Amino acid sequence: MKTVIGNWKMNLGIRESVALAHGVLQSLKGKELTPDVVICPPFTVLSEVQKAVSKSKLALGAQNCGPDRAGAFTGEISVPMLKDVGCSFVIIGHSERRNYMQEDGVLLHKKFRLALEEKITPVLCVGESKIEREAGQAITFVKNQLKEIFENQTIPKTSRLMVAYEPIWAIGTGAPASVADIVEMHQIIRAEVAKYTGAEPERVEVLYGGSVTSENAYGYLRESEIDGLLIGGASLKLNQFTEIINLASDILNAQI
Ligand code: 13P
Repeated sequence: MKTVIGNWKMNLGIRESVALAHGVLQSLKGKELTPDVVICPPFTVLSEVQKAVSKSKLALGAQNCGPDRAGAFTGEISVPMLKDVGCSFVIIGHSERRNYMQEDGVLLHKKFRLALEEKITPVLCVGESKIEREAGQAITFVKNQLKEIFENQTIPKTSRLMVAYEPIWAIGTGAPASVADIVEMHQIIRAEVAKYTGAEPERVEVLYGGSVTSENAYGYLRESEIDGLLIGGASLKLNQFTEIINLASDILNAQI
């Protein structure tokens, strides 16, 4: 299976969001086999977008969640609230949150655990900066990010294990990582997550994110080591996002 996730980040109001969601829905109609498609709009439009995608196979995700279930945490949005509004996925540990909001491994471990406990799929983001890559420290850095989350974590048997490899230097730069670099890192991520969780390596889904476009998506999707894509900018452009979904569908249908 392949999974295509759109991370809309801090973009779009209600009207544009609903229109974009409708457009994505259309692209899934009438096809034999499609990838799992998830859109992650901002919190403020989740409710309206949910109405647009309900009873469809287009899934809804959130871009972040708080580390607690409920209570006096002004400004936070909890995992139960996300479930209530119809989310079945939540992105955890995006580098923009790690870097701009100072989210650390301890906090992200808590968020990840809460998502698993509440049976919503956490999409854990990991990835090194240019400094680490150039110093030959990328693998050590990513392994450490995985350790912070998966060590001492109880994983329910039915949970999806999803990690997105998003090297920071590739995000929004127009300079995506090479297939060779991605495959190398995905193999390591898969093995590490399997080691910590005791899960079969095939159960671990590893996605790539960073300057994915409709032009380069095919080269990634055709790799068996790349279980899907986490897409920022191109997920805001209906023609680009639809084209990427179509490419993933073509690959899946060719494998039947
Ligand atoms: P871009 O696709 O815009 O590079 O963003 C990737 C990303 O951060 C998705 O979470």
